[in-house]
Amino acid sequence: MYTVSKLEDYSPAALDQAAHELLQAVRQEATAIAGENDWRVFRDRWMARKNGILTQVNDLWLKAAPGTAKREVGARVNQLKTEVEKAVGVAQHRTSSTAASSRLESERLDITLPGIRRPLGAEHPVIRTMTEIVDVFRRMGYSVADGPEIETDYYNFEALSFPPNHPARDTQDTLFVAGQEKKPQRDRLLLRTHTSPVQIRTMLNQPPPVRAVIPGKVHRADTADATHSPIFHQVEGLAVDTNITFCDLKGTLDHAMKSLFGSNVKTRFFPSFFPFTEPSADVSITCFKCGGKGCRLCKMSGWIELLGCGMVDPNVFKFVEQNGYDSQKISGFAFGMGVERITMLKYGIDDIQLFYQGDVRFLEQFA
Ligand code: PHE
Repeated sequence: MYTVSKLEDYSPAALDQAAHELLQAVRQEATAIAGENDWRVFRDRWMARKNGILTQVNDLWLKAAPGTAKREVGARVNQLKTEVEKAVGVAQHRTSSTAASSRLESERLDITLPGIRRPLGAEHPVIRTMTEIVDVFRRMGYSVADGPEIETDYYNFEALSFPPNHPARDTQDTLFVAGQEKKPQRDRLLLRTHTSPVQIRTMLNQPPPVRAVIPGKVHRADTADATHSPIFHQVEGLAVDTNITFCDLKGTLDHAMKSLFGSNVKTRFFPSFFPFTEPSADVSITCFKCGGKGCRLCKMSGWIELLGCGMVDPNVFKFVEQNGYDSQKISGFAFGMGVERITMLKYGIDDIQLFYQGDVRFLEQFA
């Protein structure tokens, strides 16, 4: 630590040497100052009126100097005073500006911090499959239609050739809107049990030819279990034109199934019944998992039943006759498939309820 000592020698060289040592000391001490407190101690050590180093220099060097050296020593001491004041000033500036910058530090905007993440959602697997099915038909030139989920008895049943009280209605487990008893039966509201009523609405909207697919939500009074849900989805299809035959139906659905499940699946049509198609068929595809050999997925049969279809019954055209649907001139086919069932088969999902529980761990697998 620097201390002021008496001068023995007042020659310019000795004075220079003493001044040099002092300046070196003040500058070196200045570099060690870390904060405002350090600075105050430093300032007092060098500049305190009472016993500060400059005061000591004044006493020990100037006052003690012989008359002949006074001038020389005085000039040096003044110079040292200026230099020390400057060093103290610079040190003060430095400590206050580091204090200011550490104040700003807490307010600094760190643009490298990751932002708040808003996880992206993913398309629901049922919607994804529905879109995929619709796209297969769009590529064949079909347009997309839709209709209401709350439907009248007329569109859901009567115009589709389910006469009032016909036993085929029982198979639909219909949910009826309450308090409709005063209305004529055909006007009573229900939750549509299938997308087929939109066949009628589409034909009322446009004269033939028609190529349309109808994706949508349907409702049935089923108890929820691994394969049943009171709300599920279907994609309906309708093609009406001159000379539409069962061959067209087979070719169209065979192509669609190959697009959805892979080009090596085969389709099989076997007789079935729907009031609004004649003839009617159920369509199976060869099991895409075992290739038809028999496995758990196809319950050892080699075949998986997928959808209902048929040629539009001429009775149905009667309900839309006024819009150009003359069953003597035109014919058509229709089909309907369950989207959940197809999704479950495609992804190997064994419980339909997983679609409706909203469990992110399930859903994110489809992201
Ligand atoms: N609507 C029928 C059902 O839900 C399926 C179907 C549609 C059958 C079109 C034939 C033609 O079971």
